[in-house]
Amino acid sequence: MPGGTHEFGPLYPAAAAPHIGVMALLKIAHMGHPVLRDRARAVDDPTAPWVRRLFEDMVETMEDAGGTGLAAPQVHMPWRIVVFRVDGERLSDLPGDSEQDLTALINPVIEPVGNEMAYGWEGCLSVPGLRGVVPRHLRVRYRGLGLDGGVIERDVAGFHARVVQHECDHLDGILYPQRMTDHRLLMFLEELQRHPIDLAAFLAGEGDR
Ligand code: NI
Repeated sequence: MPGGTHEFGPLYPAAAAPHIGVMALLKIAHMGHPVLRDRARAVDDPTAPWVRRLFEDMVETMEDAGGTGLAAPQVHMPWRIVVFRVDGERLSDLPGDSEQDLTALINPVIEPVGNEMAYGWEGCLSVPGLRGVVPRHLRVRYRGLGLDGGVIERDVAGFHARVVQHECDHLDGILYPQRMTDHRLLMFLEELQRHPIDLAAFLAGEGDR
């Protein structure tokens, strides 16, 4: 695309520098905002300074909000950039479900490995207050570029695989409720905490009562 990045430079202008060297909290788009339904655009140059600045602001925004991951469209930036971090406490014991330091993934591609699916709870900063049970590929291989322009490629499973699938869905305009297969399992976190659900039993049919 001629002019590519420059055409959109004003969305994150290098010239508007009042906060250079100072990270900024970004406004999070909520479900219903069109930026969350659009397909995000590929980044021409992952090493461009605006990408680094956006990454830093996304990380600050994610950490301030207590999120595990964040995709650029969630902060009104229609680019194929996600950030995430996988903490040890939610890992399954599957091989490949590994802790992951803060990662920026640019122009990511995900490929399922095998056919197995797994159900698990998800939340999203763009769908505040809710939790839902979402089927995801149990194992995936993901590939993308880092901020240095180098290739990142990993084979992962379980929660790590879930996080990446959730974040990359944002780049195609998909929010987790659209991936759900049983909307009885979409609920307010507050109610879920008050009325915990045995997910294994629910999925085995107990939930039909
Ligand atoms: Ni999300």
